[in-house]
Order: sequence, then C-alpha cells, then structure tokens
Amino acid sequence: MVRIVRATQAEIDEAVTALRDGDLVAFPTETVYGLGANAQNPAAVQKIFEAKGRPTTHPVIVHLDSPKYLHRWVREVPDAAQALGERFWPGPLTLVLPRNPNVHDIVTGGQDTIAVRVPAHPMAQQLLTAFGGGIAAPSANRYGRISPTRAEHVRDELGDAVRIVLDGGESQVGLESTIVALDGAGVRLLRPGAVTLAQLRQVVGDVQVGVPSPAPRVPGSAPVHYAPATPMTIVPADEIDTRAEDASEGGRRIAVLAQRLPLKTYPSVTWINAGRRADAYAHDLYANLRTLDKAGCEQILVQEVPGDDKWDAIRDRLLRGAAANEVEGADASVSGALGPMP
Ligand code: TXA
Ligand code: MG
Repeated sequence: MVRIVRATQAEIDEAVTALRDGDLVAFPTETVYGLGANAQNPAAVQKIFEAKGRPTTHPVIVHLDSPKYLHRWVREVPDAAQALGERFWPGPLTLVLPRNPNVHDIVTGGQDTIAVRVPAHPMAQQLLTAFGGGIAAPSANRYGRISPTRAEHVRDELGDAVRIVLDGGESQVGLESTIVALDGAGVRLLRPGAVTLAQLRQVVGDVQVGVPSPAPRVPGSAPVHYAPATPMTIVPADEIDTRAEDASEGGRRIAVLAQRLPLKTYPSVTWINAGRRADAYAHDLYANLRTLDKAGCEQILVQEVPGDDKWDAIRDRLLRGAAANEVEGADASVSGALGPMP
C-alpha cells in the first residue's frame, strides 16, 4: 500500500488559493476525507451543502491546526474539553462546544454550539497551517452516503463540484471521528469513533451516551446515514454461509462482507473477508462497501461484528447502513430512532 502523507508546496499553494477564492477543497484526514471551505466565508460554506445535497440545518465541523485557535470559535472551553483536547488532539475526536457569537450561522446550523476538531493527518495539518484559518468540512460524500477514505472516492462522489482534491492516500482510521458534546450538562458521546467510550471515561470520568431527547440536530445520528445504495442486512455469523448458499442455488447475486473465508465456493456470491481485527476492519470498511455496492448484487449481507467496545463505531455505522433500506424516505433530520450507540 502506498502511503502519501505530504503534499507538494505547489499543491498546498493551489489549495490555499482555492479556499481564499471561496471554492471547495477536498483533503485527507486520518478518519475520512473532508470537503473543505473557508469557515469564515458563508458563501463558500454554502457551496459545501450544495455539493453534498445536504440540508443547511445540518452543521459542519470546523478544523483547526492547533487547539490554540479554539477561542476564535468557542465561547468557553470547559475543563473536561481542555483535558480531552490535550489527550486526543491532533486526532480522531470532535468536540461540540458553546460557539463564539461571531461564528457564521451556516457553520453551526444556527445552533448555540460549534463542532471543532484538530486532525492529525500531516497533509491536513499542512493545509490548515498554510491557510491560517478554520476549514469547515463535513465528510466529502453525497448526503447520507458512505464517507470517502481515498481521493478517488471523492472524485466519484462529487466530481467537478470540488476545485481540488488533495490525495493523501488511504485514511488510516477509516471511520468518522468520535463526537463528544460538552455543555453545562456534562459530557456526552454523540457519535462513536476510534476514540472509544472507555478512553473518554479514563480522561473525564462520567460520559453519557447517545443523543438526549428531545434530540437537537445531530444528523450523524440519523438512521439513513452511512448507507450503500444496495440494501444491506446484518446476519449472525452462523447463518452467513447458509444465506450465501441459498442465494447461489437460486442464482441470485449477493454480496457478503464477512470476517472469514466462505466454507465453499458460491458462484453468484461476491465475498469479502474483512478479517477479525477491528482497526483493519474499520480501515477498509467503506472501501469494501463501495466495492460490494458496485458488484451488481441485489443485497449486501454483513456478518454481525463482535460485541466488545473496539467494535462500537463499526457496529454503529453498520446498523445505520442497514437501517437505510428499512426506513427509506424517513425524515433524515429526526434523530434518535436508532441512538448513536447500538
Ligand atoms: O471524521 C470526521 O468527523 C470527518 C472529517 C472530515 O473531519 N467529518 C465528518 O463530518 O464526519 P460530517 O459533517 O460528515 O459529520 C459531522 C457530524 C454531523 O452529523 C453533524 O451534524 C454533527 O457532526 N455536528 C456538527 N456540528 C454540530 C453541533 N454543533 N452539535 C451537534 N452535532 C454537530
Ligand atoms: Mg458525513
């Protein structure tokens, strides 16, 4: 596997010019690729929503190269946020904090809070430092779809809407950041990610889990997120071969995302063995789902993953991907039907 971690100065200069012109730049992070705009230019941030087909009520994360610029975006930094930033930044953690009043409404969806993250990917750091400001960026996919973990996924998803796609190789983590909200009411995990609940609790003690009800807008928790176009179903490990065999006998084309090899060869089945290691499984998950989505199958069967907390983020995304075909047409702004943690 080729790992590209640095961009040339010419690429960075071009990307910075695009951001200053109010255009969109896709860039790698260690979680997934982001679709970036100058967070201080509302017209530029508006273009993100147009390119993704995402409703403007769904706020975006502001990326910074260092926590030292936090006060430009955040009104107050609770001690617990300070501690989490020190422990996990730069890295796959997003903090939702009280917003600074001068932050544009398009960034926060008009809410009183703002999501901020300091990414670790060297190319993201290079871009942020050269730009010298905050970059507003959701994942660089069409609304509700699988996040991109490679530059070519971004081009497939968004094409000409993006002026520049910086290619930083495969995203190391492969799943979106852990999102934690901190306000007067304490610390709350809104979206599981590579930073686990146990790791958060080691730093701040008590952490609530899930979106409070009535839920504020946390679209990452909408059940129609993270979905391939092919209907996806989660199947217990001991049923996966039977299902594959039945499909094969009926001449039905199905795709399987398993954690082991098939017991036999099934002619009409496309089978991926994603292995038993959570970090490797997460790294490849979205690329595997894209591959299976393109295999021309009527269904994707996913072998149920283990129950321990290393698999929380993976399980969360799989449940949402599988929920998409069950709740087709559901209002994506209504969260909580399937809280962020399974
Ligand atoms: O790993 C990641 O977090 C990637 C990379 C590019 O940083 N970004 C990402 O962004 O996944 P996005 O927009 O796809 O997911 C961010 C989630 C959304 O569900 C959004 O609604 C939520 O964060 N969010 C943003 N601002 C929020 C806020 N003020 N309060 C609650 N949730 C917020
Ligand atoms: Mg997203």
